[in-house]
Amino acid sequence: MRIPKGGVGFFDSGIGGLTVLSECQKLCKNQVFYYYGDHTHAPYGNKSRKQIRRYTLSVMKKFRRMKVKAVVLACNTVTAVCADELRRKFSFPIIGAEPAVYPAAKTGGLVYVLATKATVQSERFQNLCQRIALLCPQSEIKTFACEGLAGEIEKKMGKGGEYTRFLPSGSPDAVVLGCTHYIYIKEEIARFYGCQIFDGNLGIAKRLNYVLSKNQFLAQNDKKSRNLRPHLTTLKKINEKSNKRSLKMGKKQLQKGNNQKVFFLGKSRERMHFTHEQMFVLD
Ligand code: DGL
Repeated sequence: MRIPKGGVGFFDSGIGGLTVLSECQKLCKNQVFYYYGDHTHAPYGNKSRKQIRRYTLSVMKKFRRMKVKAVVLACNTVTAVCADELRRKFSFPIIGAEPAVYPAAKTGGLVYVLATKATVQSERFQNLCQRIALLCPQSEIKTFACEGLAGEIEKKMGKGGEYTRFLPSGSPDAVVLGCTHYIYIKEEIARFYGCQIFDGNLGIAKRLNYVLSKNQFLAQNDKKSRNLRPHLTTLKKINEKSNKRSLKMGKKQLQKGNNQKVFFLGKSRERMHFTHEQMFVLD
């Protein structure tokens, strides 16, 4: 399959960034997207900074060869560990995934921020939480590294699973999902805590749309574009669908080409493509 150059690159340790891609597809029309999910090395959250940096750099170099117009780090961990360095190294715009701590803290009360170990330990994340604590003194921000949760979601995708054992106990007034993998179990987390849940995906999509518009890359009035109505489905629904369809089908569709203008890259591209297919309703 020939992959056109000049699209928008998305990168995550695995399937988590597909939640970001689906949000961006709603907002940024008529684009070519590349998705690189590094399932081989996932999860990243328990890896060293050095390893995360190495995996990320090799994918960024690949994107550079593809002459990307922008890259979305659809991964809070990668953003926390190396976004600043990547912005210095590469000339294309890089949009990061930041946990939506501010909108959650604005509501007041006790805020739980759930993220990977690498994110929670990063300076960038610590600074963000400190800044917001100063801005919103009416709220109390507590951060938690949900060790093993992203790996479990990555592994169990399509096979069901029980995730609440990874969640810290307590009664927060708001919960921030600081890892793109957690968005798949948003409903379960909401049920567990019975409070409002925040994620940063819409913010990322708006930022990408702005960057693309600013650079005059956004194609206007493309009547030929497919009427694609993306809905992020819950993990439960994905599991139900997955029981009916097999990975083989994902492979067949990958070979047929991709008229959604999303191209999956890397060793895990068939798995990523299949999962992405489960997340959409096509009109
Ligand atoms: N989805 C990623 C994040 O947003 C990484 C999860 C992992 O691989 O541990 O942090």
